[in-house]
Amino acid sequence: MKNSTVTSKRSKRFQVLEDRPVNKDGFVQEWPEQGFVAMSSPHDPTPSLVIKEGKIVELDGKPREEFDMLDQFIADYTIDVSVAEKVMKMDSVEIARKLVDINVSRTEVLNVVKGMTPAKVVEVLNQLNVVEMMMALQKMRARKKPSNQCHVTNVRDNPVLMAADAAEAGIRGFDEQETTVGIVRYAPFNALALLVGSQTARKGILTQDALEEATELRLAMLGLTTYAETISIYGTESVFMDGDDTPWSKSFLASAYASRGAKMRFTSGTGSEVQMAGAEGKSMLYLEVRCVMMAKGAGVQGLQNGSISCIGIPASVPSGIRAVLAENLATTMFDLEVASGNDQTFSHSEIRRSAKMLCQMLPGTDFIFSGFSAVPNSDDMFAGSNMDSSDLDDYLVIQRDMMVDGGLKPVEEEEVIEVRYKAAKAMQAIFEELGFPQITEEEVEAATYANGSEDMPKRNVVEDLKAAQRILEEGITGFDISLVLSKKGYKETAERIFDMLKHKVAGDYLHTSAIIDSDNIVISAVNNENDYNGPGTGYRLEGKRWEEIKNIRQAISPNDY
Ligand code: 5AD
Ligand code: CA
Repeated sequence: MKNSTVTSKRSKRFQVLEDRPVNKDGFVQEWPEQGFVAMSSPHDPTPSLVIKEGKIVELDGKPREEFDMLDQFIADYTIDVSVAEKVMKMDSVEIARKLVDINVSRTEVLNVVKGMTPAKVVEVLNQLNVVEMMMALQKMRARKKPSNQCHVTNVRDNPVLMAADAAEAGIRGFDEQETTVGIVRYAPFNALALLVGSQTARKGILTQDALEEATELRLAMLGLTTYAETISIYGTESVFMDGDDTPWSKSFLASAYASRGAKMRFTSGTGSEVQMAGAEGKSMLYLEVRCVMMAKGAGVQGLQNGSISCIGIPASVPSGIRAVLAENLATTMFDLEVASGNDQTFSHSEIRRSAKMLCQMLPGTDFIFSGFSAVPNSDDMFAGSNMDSSDLDDYLVIQRDMMVDGGLKPVEEEEVIEVRYKAAKAMQAIFEELGFPQITEEEVEAATYANGSEDMPKRNVVEDLKAAQRILEEGITGFDISLVLSKKGYKETAERIFDMLKHKVAGDYLHTSAIIDSDNIVISAVNNENDYNGPGTGYRLEGKRWEEIKNIRQAISPNDY
C-alpha cells in the first residue's frame, strides 16, 4: 500500500469506497518467483523446438535429457511433429490474428495449433486483449450450440431435496448436472437422486457424482452416473507427484471411465500450482497451457478449466481474469470441449463476478459454467459458485438483454413445483420398493416447495447411510432403478433412465462436446461442429429458442392492458 503524506484524517470518498464489497477481495502485486503472475513470467521459457528423426529433442529451450515428465508427455503425445517445424517459424502475432480473423476457419487454426509448443501458445495468447479472446472463443469452441452445467448438492445430502433440485435444474435448461457429498458414504444416494431428478425433468441430461475415483468409477459402471470430470492434472512435476500421479496414470484413469461408457474430461486451472507452492517461478498461464496440452495428449475429449477451485489466486493478480479467459480459449484451440469455470465464488463484488462471467457467457462455450449452483450457495458443497439459485432471474434477464444464449430458460413457478413433486414422489417410490428408510409425505411436500436444506425435515443419517451402502454392496444398477420406477407407475422416468443406459452402450456421447437433447439426440462437435465465420454464420439465437428466452415471467404483455 502506498504511503500517504497526509495526516490521519480520512477522505470520506475513500471511506465509502472501502466499504464496497470489492474491497473485501484479496489483491496482491506480482511475485513471479512464487508464481503470482498471470500470463507472462520472466522465468517462462521462450518458444523453441528441435526435431530429430521424427522425435522432439528440444522443447522450449530444454534439451530432451532435461525434460520433466510433463515435457516428455507433451513432446511425445501432443505436438504433431509433421507440422511443428513449419508452425514454430510462424510469427506469433500472425497466429493471434488468425484466431480473431473471421476469414480464417476454425479448422485452419486447429491445424496450426497442433504444431505449437507450450511457450508458443502462451506467446500467441499474450497478443490478445479480452475482446479478441472472446471473438476467438466464439469461433474456436467445438460445439456450435453453447450449453451450461450446474451443481446440485445440499449440506445434509438430503436425497429427496436433491432429486427435487435436480428436477428443477433440468427444466431450467442445464444439460449437465453434478453433485458431490458432504458425508462420503452418501455418495450412492446422491448419484441416485441426481439420476432420478434429472430424468424426471427431461430425457438426456448427463449427471456426475464427484468423488474419490474408485467409487466414482463404480457408480458410473453401475449406470447411476454418465460422466466424470474431476480427474485433476497440474502444470509442474512436483505438484503432480504430490498426488502420487503422472500424466500416464491420469490417462489410464481416463480410459477406465471412457471404456465403460462414461463421458470423461480432465480438470485443471491456473493457480493450483501456486496454491500447492510448486509453480517453479512460471506464469499461471504457461503452467495451464501445459495442462491443456497434456489433456490433448491423453486423448480425453475435454477439459474443465478456468482456474476452477483456485480462482482466488489468478483473481488476485493483474490480468488474472484475462488469464482465466485465455486458458479457456487455449482449451478450444486444441479441439477440446471446454467446461469453462465460473463454478466457485471469487469475489464479494456483484459487479466483478458478473464482469468475469460475461467473458464466457457472451462468446458462449461448451459449458459456460462448469457448475452454476442450482441450489443456494449455502447448500453448495463445491464451496459455492460464482452464481447460485438466487441469481437465476438475473441470468435470465442478461440472456434477454443481450440476446445471448446462456443455456438456461425461463420457467413458471407452477411447473417447478410440479416437477419437484414428481421427482420427490419417484424417490419415495424407489425407497419404498428397495426397503430403504421411508420418505414421508411431509418430506415430499417440503422438497416440493423448498429453497434449501433448512426447509427440510431431518432424516435419520445412520439408517440412510446403511441404505446408501446397500447400493454398492448389492450392486443396485440404473437398470434396477428403471425397473422399480416402471413397476411403481413412473414409466416416463423409467424409460428415460433406460435410454441413458442405452447411450452408454452406443457411446455416441463420448464424442467431443457431447450433450443429449430432449429428443434423445446426441449433439456434439461431430454433428454440430462450430462453423462460426463471422456475421451470418455459427450459432444464432433465433426462432423457438429466442422466443423462450424472451418470455421471462416478469414481462408485462400488451394483453394485460
Ligand atoms: N487444478 C486441478 N484440479 C482442480 N479441481 C478444481 N480446481 C482445480 C485446478 N485448478 C478439481 C479437484 C477438485 C474438483 C472440484 O475439481 O479434483 O476436487
Ligand atoms: Ca463442474
